Amino acid sequence: MSSRQFVVEASPHDVCERAAEMWRTRAEEAISERGRFFVALAGGSTPRELYQILTARGFRQQIDWSNTEFFFGDERSVPAESNDSNFRMVREALFEKIAVPDTHIHRMPAEQHDLEAASADYEQLIADRFGVEPTGPPPAFDLVLLGMGTDGHTASLFPFTTALAEQHRWVVANEVPQLKTWRMTMTFPIINAARSVAFLISGETKSQPLFEVLCGAVNADLYPAQRVAPANGSMSFFVDQLASAKLPESILR
Ligand code: 6PG
Repeated sequence: MSSRQFVVEASPHDVCERAAEMWRTRAEEAISERGRFFVALAGGSTPRELYQILTARGFRQQIDWSNTEFFFGDERSVPAESNDSNFRMVREALFEKIAVPDTHIHRMPAEQHDLEAASADYEQLIADRFGVEPTGPPPAFDLVLLGMGTDGHTASLFPFTTALAEQHRWVVANEVPQLKTWRMTMTFPIINAARSVAFLISGETKSQPLFEVLCGAVNADLYPAQRVAPANGSMSFFVDQLASAKLPESILR
């Protein structure tokens, strides 16, 4: 079972500050050991402030962006210019403010009509960047950032959807009937191959699902975030006091 670390801060801003410190540390370690830092980004709204903080003094100059490559953990089936695009959110919060080669930014083209083919292409891209075969075991991202929805989903691994059962593919098209949409998403095999997985979770609406994910009955179809368990990596939860309010003290130590 991977080690679980909790960082609890009073406010979402402080949560993101601590997560930015973790990012800087992970990037330094990865680049000194392997010459590069491969990160899979979370979408949604919570991580926006983390991405903004990374462009601020104290982080922007201290992080080696030229040896960082950005991937996405999931993407909505919308164009890059859509207000719903995770890519657009990160581009505005981070990419536009740091000097990083476009070739190091790997958007998920989830607006493509053939989402299965686009997912296979993205898998091939990951394999090429890691220098491995897409049919082999999943490579280890240095850091996978994740959020968690109020329904316990993470990335675009929603309750009772087909992608939850995927044991081999790294990236798939996933139909999400409860949202009447399709998503492109990384799967548990590649998430759980990561050297480090970090959840960013804030707000009172996440307190009950977070309790269910961490302390409730095991039911990973209902609470998919329960299935995140990096086999050889670390797992950390960056949470604010509101989101962690229902967690027992014993788990937070
Ligand atoms: C997405 C995200 C998704 C997100 C959760 C939490 O595409 O929406 O990848 O998994 O992390 O829905 O979102 P918030 O941080 O906005 O609550």
